Amino acid sequence: MAYRIRPCRSLDELGQAAGAIGHYFGWVPTDEEVERFSQVIPPERMHAAFDGKEIVGGAGVFPFEMTVPGGPVPCAGVTVVGVLPTHRRRGLLSRMMRAQIDDIHARGEPFAALWASEPTIYGRFGYGHASLTHEVRLPRIWAAFRAGTPARTGRVRLIEQDESLRVFPRLYQKVARETPGFLARSKAWWELRRLRDDPSRRPPGSGPLNRALLEIDGRAAGYALYRIVQSEEAGHWTRTLRVVEALGVDPTATREVWRFLLEVDWTDEIQAWLLPTDHPLQHLVARLDRLDLRVGTGLWVRPVDVGATLSARSYRSDSRVTFELRDSFCTWNEGTWTLADGVAKRSSRRPDLRLDVQALGAAYLGGFSFAELSRAGLVEEASRGALARADALFLSEPAPWCPEIF
Ligand SMILES: CC(C)(COP(=O)(O)OP(=O)(O)OC[C@H]1O[C@@H](n2cnc3c(N)ncnc32)[C@H](O)[C@@H]1OP(=O)(O)O)[C@@H](O)C(=O)NCCC(=O)NCCS
Repeated sequence: MAYRIRPCRSLDELGQAAGAIGHYFGWVPTDEEVERFSQVIPPERMHAAFDGKEIVGGAGVFPFEMTVPGGPVPCAGVTVVGVLPTHRRRGLLSRMMRAQIDDIHARGEPFAALWASEPTIYGRFGYGHASLTHEVRLPRIWAAFRAGTPARTGRVRLIEQDESLRVFPRLYQKVARETPGFLARSKAWWELRRLRDDPSRRPPGSGPLNRALLEIDGRAAGYALYRIVQSEEAGHWTRTLRVVEALGVDPTATREVWRFLLEVDWTDEIQAWLLPTDHPLQHLVARLDRLDLRVGTGLWVRPVDVGATLSARSYRSDSRVTFELRDSFCTWNEGTWTLADGVAKRSSRRPDLRLDVQALGAAYLGGFSFAELSRAGLVEEASRGALARADALFLSEPAPWCPEIF
């Protein structure tokens, strides 16, 4: 039987294509869920794999902007990738990735990004692992700030959904503009993905989503979304404060948002994940050793149009570097590229660095240096000092951070 891959043409097809990944976590999208889903991912951005008339796989793209060093850039946010167990290992994922990336290329979106549930899947399609995340589990008894931390400032209010929908996006946008890895959220995204609190989809033992707004001198300055999760064992109750998202528009606001979260009474533990590796929390607490800091994988980045991707971000120096690039999946990228004055052009210069497109994706947001990638054999230095020059260019401050899995 010949399989066919094409974009979805209806909400019904969108639902069936999303249902392929849904199969793996027991989710059969309802009509209402598909309608909501279509507000953030139009049917034509979802590729479906057909076996005859039956949809047996899907791979979608959220069309959004992602901040790269220098500002927001159009990005294809790859999501809901799945093939039904009845059709696995017949090349359907590969064919969907082919169709999807050709479509992204034709639409002129410079790069694609994703979260990988399995890090072994996407390298073959040119995605490089581009950022790390931190996870913390801090027992409340150790949750004090270090001595010398400035005194409390501002006040926190618990607010309703309507008010949070008016205020949080502005604060988020301020942080998003300056932080590589953040994505631009539409109103629908806020409503349907971030602030939605369907009781049937809460984690076991979880209470509602709490919305806390920090105001300093009467001005909104930060917020936290969090849940209290209770569990019981042999009559002993444990309460965990799970941080869903916490942001401040500046260091003072970030500190005060976290002070609030760390001080909630009756909490045994404060948990947070998807934090950036340079999050100030690790310097704010008195007991770094009690944070139980764990490292997780983060964003994967795939330059689809290498020239456009490189030219879209800003750089820390005006030095020049020439890459010899291999890209067997998107051969239009292959060859020699010189980056000079922030613009990448095809070139006949001698290469400074030789690398695969995966390594370029890994370094793109500034989350990994070319030097460390070269120590893992992923980048070859072809001219003396080239690693240091490239790193001086690509270095990014702050570290990449995407506060949500999409
Ligand atoms: C992962 C999944 C999408 C693969 O789909 P598939 O149609 O079976 O994949 P293909 O047959 O096109 O395989 C393409 C290549 O990827 C490899 N591959 C597939 N799944 C893999 C996995 N989980 N880990 C590592 N490699 C994998 C195949 O071996 C094949 O390699 P080859 O080209 O060297 O032979 C599918 O098994 C699935 O839906 N799994 C559960 C959901 C999931 O993990 N989705 C990804 C979310 S990020």
